[in-house]
Amino acid sequence: MTSLRIRPVRPGDLDQVAAIEEACFPPAEAASREALAERIAAFPDSFLVAELDGTLVGMVNGCCTDSPVIRDEMFHGTGLHQPDGANQSIFGLDVLPAYQKRGIATQLLRALIAASRETGRQAVILTCKEPLIRYYETFGFKNDGPSDSTHGDAAWFDMTLRLGN
Ligand SMILES: CC(C)(COP(=O)(O)OP(=O)(O)OC[C@H]1O[C@@H](n2cnc3c(N)ncnc32)[C@H](O)[C@@H]1OP(=O)(O)O)[C@@H](O)C(=O)NCCC(=O)NCCS
Repeated sequence: MTSLRIRPVRPGDLDQVAAIEEACFPPAEAASREALAERIAAFPDSFLVAELDGTLVGMVNGCCTDSPVIRDEMFHGTGLHQPDGANQSIFGLDVLPAYQKRGIATQLLRALIAASRETGRQAVILTCKEPLIRYYETFGFKNDGPSDSTHGDAAWFDMTLRLGN
């Protein structure tokens, strides 16, 4: 019997979190181990992990901000994190390849959306590549069009989920 648990990250998760990020993103887009350690320290409440039978298999994380869109500077440190910011951003949603397509990212996303709504945030914001626009739309995200982001030299779209707060 397998059991999936979505929970806030802990400092001791760093090794597994860094391995998941490396497995899920190309080097130009992956957050470094140092950046992930900084995020765990700065915003553990908006950094959730998926634990399957004691092993981490996925995660979602992002800072809080009054900015209506993600700006590339936000990826380069946690200095722009605004704990009382109106919006919850998503920097990364990752599930290890061997565990994809079984709804784990959906559970992570739903948990972060629910926590953001409870905390009184106005919106959840993210940037994604074209193939994932449909996926995020199924959660109610609206496509705001091409992003100014040049993160990892890729083309990104701004997506916003209004929470009604
Ligand atoms: C994007 C990503 C996080 C999705 O993770 P995931 O756990 O596979 O996502 P889900 O299982 O919730 O949904 C993925 C698909 O599987 C389908 N699915 C969900 N549960 C399923 C199940 N039990 N059986 C079969 N398919 C299922 C979903 O409907 C969805 O289908 P779609 O692609 O047609 O929309 C994962 O592919 C990943 O880590 N990619 C690399 C990093 C990345 O690009 N992250 C996003 C940008 S930040």
